[in-house]
Amino acid sequence: MRRLGILLSGRGSNFLAIHRAIADGRIPDAEIAVVISNKTEAKGLEAARSLGLPALAIPQEGKGPAARETHDTKMIAALTDYGVELVCLAGYMRIISPAFVEAFPNRILNIHPSLLPAFPGLDAQQQAFEYGVKVAGCTVHFVDEAVDHGVIVLQKTVPVLDEDTVETLSAKILEQEHIAYPEAIARVLSETHGVVGRRYLPA
Ligand code: GRF
Repeated sequence: MRRLGILLSGRGSNFLAIHRAIADGRIPDAEIAVVISNKTEAKGLEAARSLGLPALAIPQEGKGPAARETHDTKMIAALTDYGVELVCLAGYMRIISPAFVEAFPNRILNIHPSLLPAFPGLDAQQQAFEYGVKVAGCTVHFVDEAVDHGVIVLQKTVPVLDEDTVETLSAKILEQEHIAYPEAIARVLSETHGVVGRRYLPA
């Protein structure tokens, strides 16, 4: 069994999409080993507990680089304790340190609600909507030292229609996120592809 670790800060709909995909065989031979949040009150943690999955809150104590380092050290230790092979950031609203990235080289995935490299950072759907793009979407990528920057595993697009609002666009993107993330995880675990420079190509 390939062991996944999910990191989240909020509602956890991507986590639940991954959980469903494992249950119905779209991510073969995998299990969620642990769900960890930096937010004690995250809805996603509650959902994990009610599914009977190990769910931990590891909040950051204090501010500044030392506090950040201590927090990331605890996160790495917990993921290691649970034997996690692939870390999936699913609405994890923290920037992770280079030490964290080094601990799991090409073993951390993130999902971002825009077609990167357009609209990195917060409120990506709103940024895209306000820019006036005609095609929007989501990106699953490996995590490297820079924010929303690592090698792209896959992207899904949605058309932006004249009648769309930020809310309807965000909902359409989220629907695609729930398809894209399981697909990307299955691809990464199957090792049919590899990182070649900035590209993720059939091995
Ligand atoms: C998603 O839009 C994801 O792309 C972004 O944060 C949001 C998390 O939503 N990184 P959820 O907690 O998975 O429902």
